[in-house]
Amino acid sequence: MELKDKIDLNRLPKHIAIIMDGNGRWAKQQGKERIFGHQNGVESVRDTTEAAAELGVKFLTLYAFSTENWNRPKPEVQALMSLLVESIRNELPELHKNSIRLQAIGNLQMLPPRAYERLMEAIEDTKDNNRMTLVLALSYSAKWELIQAVKNIAKDVQSGDLNIDDINEQLISDGLTTKGIPDPELLIRTSGETRVSNFLLWQIAYAELYFTEVFWPDFRKKDLYQAILNFQQRERRFGMTSEQLLSDNGKV
Ligand code: IPE
Ligand code: IPE
Ligand code: MG
Repeated sequence: MELKDKIDLNRLPKHIAIIMDGNGRWAKQQGKERIFGHQNGVESVRDTTEAAAELGVKFLTLYAFSTENWNRPKPEVQALMSLLVESIRNELPELHKNSIRLQAIGNLQMLPPRAYERLMEAIEDTKDNNRMTLVLALSYSAKWELIQAVKNIAKDVQSGDLNIDDINEQLISDGLTTKGIPDPELLIRTSGETRVSNFLLWQIAYAELYFTEVFWPDFRKKDLYQAILNFQQRERRFGMTSEQLLSDNGKV
């Protein structure tokens, strides 16, 4: 039986988020420059996106560039931005073929103008695709996003448009760049690192975390299947007991 066939399609995570890590180490292992790893990571993005869409996953969020990544050496940042522009152009036909809608989260104003424009064009161009939404986290930081949300809420309170007692989970969720996107149920990080690195802190409150040693440029469909199968073996208790979940009235 193929790995893919073992997946229970009725219990798929609706939203999977991935911290794509290990490009630099993958390249270094082969005596190559770090950018060689980033270039090869594009194939993993293509393969993983296709796999998720084929299965019926509704949202796939990929952490492509963090706010902290701006501190990397200038040539690496420039190479990553060029790669972004080039990849968006090259991948557009594939996105349409699979009816995938592109979205982006993060402090996008910080992107170089060309990258920003290409991104906005691709988002506009794919807005009617409805099989899956691919969310790119670019110049993203969860703390930055939370600060923006808090500022906007404070402004609304100050102007009298919002009552403090009306601040609730929904309001905060709606103030984030992920507004309208369900929280990820599964968060994958590649390359053996077991940290969250300022990614979706609010949204992953109850996500299942999955870590794999595989470097991102080696990540393929089978690795995604493995992560989903692992997810499906877990019991998501949301604070309750196993016994409650098994009894009829304990359904979540
Ligand atoms: C992930 O790979 C890609 C980005 C953060 C842009 P890295 O570039 O972090 O690779 P390692 O972690 O140094 O191997
Ligand atoms: C996190 O990877 C950001 C992305 C995957 C885009 P990093 O490799 O930059 O994370 P840290 O700094 O090692 O935690
Ligand atoms: Mg890294």
